[in-house]
Amino acid sequence: MIVVVGSINMDLVVRVPRFPEPGETLLGGDLAQYSGGKGANQAVAAARAGGSVSMVGRVGNDAFGPVLRDRLASERIEVDPVTAVPGPSGVAVITVDRNARNTIVVSPGANHRLTPDDLDRTVFEGASAVLLQLETPLETVMAAARMGRAAGARTALNLAPAQSLEPRHLADIDLLLVNESEAALLTGVTAEAVADDPEIAVENLAARVPAVVLTLGAAGACWAERRALGRVPGFAVEAVDTTGAGDSFTGALSVALGEGLALPDAVRFGNAAGALAATRIGAQPAIPKRAEIDAFLAGRSA
Ligand code: RIB
Repeated sequence: MIVVVGSINMDLVVRVPRFPEPGETLLGGDLAQYSGGKGANQAVAAARAGGSVSMVGRVGNDAFGPVLRDRLASERIEVDPVTAVPGPSGVAVITVDRNARNTIVVSPGANHRLTPDDLDRTVFEGASAVLLQLETPLETVMAAARMGRAAGARTALNLAPAQSLEPRHLADIDLLLVNESEAALLTGVTAEAVADDPEIAVENLAARVPAVVLTLGAAGACWAERRALGRVPGFAVEAVDTTGAGDSFTGALSVALGEGLALPDAVRFGNAAGALAATRIGAQPAIPKRAEIDAFLAGRSA
């Protein structure tokens, strides 16, 4: 069982010809509404990749709350630990440009009302992995990591949205998942420097946690574990919307690790899921199923 403790958002998405300047009004496409949130996206990605998944989170008592919870349940995700609290659900306001890039502003709403006291120890019993991100309060993330590790699960933290952390925040994290800008924030260099020499950043981060994966977009990913370090090439695809591609990667990678794949092989599986997600619009609607990932990989040797 993979336990995901994290955010559940409604994504409000507008496609734009380019991103507006401060103070500028721009006309975009029709408004689209998709289920999202980094936690929920990773839960859906793990479930579609073949994992059995339990989601811990909060939705609001607004119109979005039941829609978001039901969407997760329809993916065969255990949603008993997803409860409604007074106030608005998490919402993400997203623009996507012609180059498949996005801007995202998150209003955390109910996600910020998930406290350490809300975590039920029994949810972690028998878990093989606990997946965490940073759209819920940091104390809750740390408490979940502690409980997950105490239950014998592998704890993974996706450092998104980027936040500067102290060593104590990573004390119960087994696997750290970062992109270039997140790695830059943690290591105190620029994202360009990380992109130029990702191995240095990964080595730096591997001194703080047992295992690290640094994703490099279309260039693939760099990993480190038990003093070994390597790079896994990415897959070239025609990207239309990269929203949720990283979440797709993370959920699929967790399933592959749970099936006993070594870290570089799990990264390759995750890369395929992320690449497929980038070829479609929206966060959760774009996340591939297991059969699609397997077929994609079967046609490629790298
Ligand atoms: O990672 C993509 C997600 O970030 C979106 O679904 C949005 O809700 C924000 O959490």
